[in-house]
Amino acid sequence: MAAELKNHGAVLSGKKRSAGHDDGAEDNNDYVVAKKSMPFFSSPAAMARYDPAAALASARHEFGEHGGVNMSIEASATFTVMEPETMRRMFSGELGPDRDFFIYSRHFNPTVLNLGRQMAALEGTEAAYCTSSGMSAISSVLMQLVSSGENIVASRTLYGGTHALMAHFLPRVANITTTFVDIHDMEMVRNALVVGKTKVLYCESISNPTLNVADIPELSRIAHEKGVMLVVDNTFSPMFLSPASLGADVVVHSISKFISGGADIIAGAVCGPASLVNSMMDLHQGSLMLLGPTMNAKVAFELSERIPHLALRMKEHCNRAMVYATRMKKMGLKVVYPGLEDHPQHKLLKSMINKEYGYGGLLCVDMETEERANRLMNLLQNYTQFGFMAVSLGYYETLMSCSGSSTSSEMNAEEKKLAGISPGLVRMSVGYIGTLEQRWSQFEKALSRMQDSGLFKN
Ligand SMILES: Cc1ncc(COP(=O)(O)O)c(C=O)c1O
Repeated sequence: MAAELKNHGAVLSGKKRSAGHDDGAEDNNDYVVAKKSMPFFSSPAAMARYDPAAALASARHEFGEHGGVNMSIEASATFTVMEPETMRRMFSGELGPDRDFFIYSRHFNPTVLNLGRQMAALEGTEAAYCTSSGMSAISSVLMQLVSSGENIVASRTLYGGTHALMAHFLPRVANITTTFVDIHDMEMVRNALVVGKTKVLYCESISNPTLNVADIPELSRIAHEKGVMLVVDNTFSPMFLSPASLGADVVVHSISKFISGGADIIAGAVCGPASLVNSMMDLHQGSLMLLGPTMNAKVAFELSERIPHLALRMKEHCNRAMVYATRMKKMGLKVVYPGLEDHPQHKLLKSMINKEYGYGGLLCVDMETEERANRLMNLLQNYTQFGFMAVSLGYYETLMSCSGSSTSSEMNAEEKKLAGISPGLVRMSVGYIGTLEQRWSQFEKALSRMQDSGLFKN
């Protein structure tokens, strides 16, 4: 069975339980906690100095069972005990993953826990746990924090699936209602929060697809005044924006996007206080435990091998998006990019970001009509090979979709109008493979074809 590995210091752990192990003798209580010395932001005063790259580098590193530089995958659904009494102690909560006791992988799994530690380090939260999709992370956290008869206040510019969850699914199955607001109108937000009834204020740090930026410190202040938790979806801005350092209580992710980077895995995470993660795993009342959107250990291993190069990837996504947005604007296109000074929340984002990355890998081009949007995307994929017509984001190739008729199609015409989604809005997730100039010349070639056919004038 597992050999005890050499101790490489506090942040390194290859500890495995061995056959002769005395059940209950070990004490290692950091199972959902990133690292005891990790900053856990109780006040926004610590904001803007958070460094996810440094935090990730000092998070505990798991070695493989045979001393491999990479951890071993704990591919077991169930776990043995050495003494029958241990099972009872585990089920009573006396022994748990904090002491390396595992019951069953829908509850806790060591490999998934390790990815959770990385996610907690990335977001600067006390704990994190990973799920089978971004939607399961979002729905589980909402169902844990909000009960029947209670309320959510949410931004009206959200990913279509999240919007549908709140507008249609939660009211029907759980009697949980949502009031949608303009999160830039602080008076409207304040008035919507009802003390005692509203449990969550929910927004995306950078919204899908309109790229509005949430004023996280201010939203956090208003929410906390009313005893409400601020939950932020940080899918569009890993590494360069750290909502917990700005006052968010919980950060959710669709790992399927930038964090995965390969457009080959669907996954999610909930990052927040250890008490929240533990409550979601409660055997009687935990939404993750009882709804069961578990991440597979093999998937967790794959993802944990990609997190070390997330910083490098984000820098290049951001760099290219900034260059293309600047050039597109110069060409006379209607571009939405929070890195451009004419973006309504440019200054706000600048005041919140972690330095050295930029302003994100997504930009939007508003072609005004769906016909022109489709023509542009068609040329960019099938004539010049600039990118692919596909939903999702964070891939190494550029992905483009017309949001109104795809990822936001769950919204009705009025909701789209309120969210600022024009019928010709093309969302681009800017990739980084190929050279920047090679890719730019592909864009220019497609646009001049649009000009030839009279569909674009500058
Ligand atoms: C901002 C945002 N949050 C959440 C989700 C849902 O994540 P997943 O597809 O991993 O369930 C998506 C997209 O799918 C998204 O764009």
